Amino acid sequence: MRRKIVAGNWKMNKTLDQGLQLVDEILSSSETSSQVLKIIAPPYIHLAAIAEKLSSREDFAVAAQNCHHLKSGAFTGEVSAEMIASTGAKYVIIGHSERRSFAGETNDILSQKVNIAIDKLTPIFCIGENVDQRNANTHLETIRAQLKDALFHLTAADFGKIIIAYEPVWAIGTGVTATSHQAQGVHNFIRTEINKKYGKEISENTTILYGGSCNAQNAQELFSCIDIDGGLIGGASLKATDIVSIINSF
Ligand code: PGA
Repeated sequence: MRRKIVAGNWKMNKTLDQGLQLVDEILSSSETSSQVLKIIAPPYIHLAAIAEKLSSREDFAVAAQNCHHLKSGAFTGEVSAEMIASTGAKYVIIGHSERRSFAGETNDILSQKVNIAIDKLTPIFCIGENVDQRNANTHLETIRAQLKDALFHLTAADFGKIIIAYEPVWAIGTGVTATSHQAQGVHNFIRTEINKKYGKEISENTTILYGGSCNAQNAQELFSCIDIDGGLIGGASLKATDIVSIINSF
């Protein structure tokens, strides 16, 4: 089902104490009855403690920032989808552009991550073009290929569980946000591609988030666009006042 979602990707920030304190601050200033699902994606080692703290709140959930593409085994330092689910986390970010660039994750590996995660966790799958692709006007082709190569092998039932995050790489952490016109255009393109592959019902029900320098100042305009169902927030998710104001932007 299509939902309004604000997800905070903490990346490699916050000690456990700092993370728990931030969650307390967010809880004390956000309304219980809100229709917006709030997802917090802290570092792996905080997952269990934060999931426990949020377990009584149905409007909050916890996500990991990544998972391994295999079930288990001799992969020192890695974390499996099953291990993540055992902490109480219900979501996992897959395909973030930082992992695509720092860890060399390809659409092929990412499709394997989706396959292994999908039974236990809801993937928040990130797609988006880099600055050269945007300048060369090949951004839509890039996005079409990311969808096709990493997700469009899924059955309709499994695809229906996926959340998409459109994150233009040139907007991530740069302070340069896509205009609402640019973001809406790509979100509409993504929904149309999903419609072509899986039909109207699934495309209308797919939640598509925007990410890339989304903040308390621009969230309202972005979230008012018809095909933008919320945000995946990096920098602005690290301060309670900022993320609560983004949550209240719907
Ligand atoms: P940003 O990051 O909000 O700091 O641009 C977004 C993201 O990487 O998900």
